[in-house]
Amino acid sequence: MTNSGIEIHKGLNGVYFDRSDSCFIDGGIGKLLYRGYDIHDLAEKSTFEEVVYLLLYGKLPTIPELSAFDNDLRSNRELPSGVLDVIEAVKNAHPMDVLRTAVSALSAFDEDVDDNSTEAIIRKGIRLTAQAPTIVASHHRIRNGKSPVKPNSRLNHAGNFLNMLLDKEPTAEESRILDVDFILHAEHGSNASAFAARVTASTVSDLHSAVVTGIGTLKGPLHGGAAEAVQKMAEAVGTPENAAAYVKNILDNKGRIMGFGHRVYKAEDPRARHLAERSESLGAERGEPHWFQILTGIQEAMKPYQSRGIYVNVDFFAGSIYYLLGIPEDIFVPIFALGRVPGWALNVIEQSSNNMLIRPLTEYTGPFDVEYVPIEDRES
Ligand code: ACO
Repeated sequence: MTNSGIEIHKGLNGVYFDRSDSCFIDGGIGKLLYRGYDIHDLAEKSTFEEVVYLLLYGKLPTIPELSAFDNDLRSNRELPSGVLDVIEAVKNAHPMDVLRTAVSALSAFDEDVDDNSTEAIIRKGIRLTAQAPTIVASHHRIRNGKSPVKPNSRLNHAGNFLNMLLDKEPTAEESRILDVDFILHAEHGSNASAFAARVTASTVSDLHSAVVTGIGTLKGPLHGGAAEAVQKMAEAVGTPENAAAYVKNILDNKGRIMGFGHRVYKAEDPRARHLAERSESLGAERGEPHWFQILTGIQEAMKPYQSRGIYVNVDFFAGSIYYLLGIPEDIFVPIFALGRVPGWALNVIEQSSNNMLIRPLTEYTGPFDVEYVPIEDRES
């Protein structure tokens, strides 16, 4: 509380701004539900396609519903040639910047661009979910002087992305690992990027603009950028034996260990364990078990911080998985975005269906009634 009696909530920490029936998080016990379904059940038993349906329509699909929905996703993967031209023009930028720019360009080709009805937002959400992987994969090919690999409608969402990115059909296990990763990243309440997308939607702007806002917000290392930073950290640590000294050095210098801590979770991030299991098994299978060992060494060294509510988050093991799948480090954050597109669409649907302009306040602490001095009279 300040002298004026105004209570400031820095970072909007702990502030509720609306009600939602789509995502429940209990950060004290590490519980996460999408539309009431436990993330552990979804990660183990469901598919990304089914989860996208659940998020957008609010219920699990029947077999015919999922089949029609999946066909819709598969048939919307192609990019207009104008968007491929835009990607070519900005090919030297970071893949996250290219994704942001290309999603913005896609709006010029979307027939529903200014239709903010729930039905149209769902249609656009499906198209963007289907097109975003093609943007990331096509850019990676184009920046390496190669032609984009065409979407393959025989492959599921995750498998098709890996095929387009690496020009190699993934194994069922590789596809499933990325499928689970997409499920875990699909939605997370009013996190920074979803809130930013909601702010955009609250002005009655369009879905593409909201997703562009979300991508720009996700990019930062305090949000989606952590997976890339964690892999760089694992490389810098080098061996499991170095982990404790590395962590001590960072913390002694008031630094942060990437992939740890969360605004909401003060217990285990329930998403992390699914990626930990896969990081370990994939590393063992690829003959590179040391990545998982380095990460568990860091985790061990961070144990004293658990008493302060600092645990591994979803990004901690993700980077090692992407690395082992052969994905370049600068594509780690875009992968998070590919998973999150349906979550952003869902937040826009919620915001639009019961909208009020989001416009908080800042308490003014500057001077009042300062005399305007003409420029020629100002002292240098
Ligand atoms: N390493 C070391 N100390 C940490 C860490 C960390 N990763 N995270 C928080 N702390 C400490 C802070 O130094 C601070 O200590 P102090 O009270 O002595 O100053 C205290 O915990 C509280 O930290 P805040 O930044 O105020 O808490 P906030 O809720 O804003 O932090 C955040 C959340 C930004 C995610 C933070 O934990 C962090 O920077 N983590 C590293 C980056 C990261 O992994 N981001 C991905 C988050 S998950 C996601 O977005 C999908």
